[in-house]
Amino acid sequence: MAPTTELPDDLEAAILDLKRERKALILAHYYQEDAIQDLADVVGDSLALARAAQNADCEVIAFCGVHFMAETAAILNPGRRVVVPDMDAGCSLADGCPADDFAAFTAQHPGAKVLTYINASAEVKAMSDLICTSSNAVKMVESFDGAPLVFAPDRHLARWVSKQTGRDDLIVWPGACVVHEQFSARELARLKVRHPEADVLAHPECDQGVLDQADFVASTTGIIQRAVEFPERTSIVATEEGVFHSIRQQAPNKELIPAPGADESCACSLCPYMRLNNVEKLYLALRDLGPEVTVDPAIAERARLPIERMLELS
Ligand code: 13P
Ligand code: SF4
Repeated sequence: MAPTTELPDDLEAAILDLKRERKALILAHYYQEDAIQDLADVVGDSLALARAAQNADCEVIAFCGVHFMAETAAILNPGRRVVVPDMDAGCSLADGCPADDFAAFTAQHPGAKVLTYINASAEVKAMSDLICTSSNAVKMVESFDGAPLVFAPDRHLARWVSKQTGRDDLIVWPGACVVHEQFSARELARLKVRHPEADVLAHPECDQGVLDQADFVASTTGIIQRAVEFPERTSIVATEEGVFHSIRQQAPNKELIPAPGADESCACSLCPYMRLNNVEKLYLALRDLGPEVTVDPAIAERARLPIERMLELS
């Protein structure tokens, strides 16, 4: 039988005690389970969390999100320990863009600049001129002149940004998010018939058929702000369900409906990677100071430049 791990009865209190003892900062993405969001010092989208990591004043960062986010925090904090609840919390976008293949891809476009979505590995970031998140992607594309521009690794975000900026010549790495790609345009159209009053909010990682039916397209922060802005109005939300927690805190009576997948059995609005984290693993991460996310210093040095450039431009 596998050994059991002793956990304190009051896990939340024990986490707060450990946080003080370790001089730790807890950062959490909006896609984390509610209990983690309630314990975090900062809850935010990818951009807000990168900024919080850049401004961190602590000995340990406990990053509750996925690996590329914790890696970004580690890149911005050489010498500071970054721990995560679960080392296997990856991301289909980052995992679907291996560094060697990306190097070969960019080699086919000599002279092109490289703009990379933050959902990518440190190695891929190190090959980039600039990083973007979903909340600043339009601005980051516009910061380049008309020279050839590689955009990686999300083809849906690339297509949306291309429409917003009029740049129809982006050289796109064809990756996708396994969560947002599952929302079904056909089922969404049916749902809209039943809720004609609803405001449809979508993340730009969604398929075009879903974005075409959205009233508002934005990052997780943008979606939350929009939902809170109309507290009496029902929202159909095409992103990970973790955002509901923050919306409900600010607009408790609001009706929130997750966007549907192609069939009823699909837990489409839960990211399988983000949901590997839980408060039990957060407790262990703070207690054991691991698993620790580290980045090869030479790669971190090269990856830091395009991230810092993005933070300056944002
Ligand atoms: P945001 O930057 O909008 O929070 O998105 C992160 C992400 O992983 C979307 O799936
Ligand atoms: Fe990656 Fe998609 Fe999960 Fe976001 S929701 S972390 S893009 S797999």
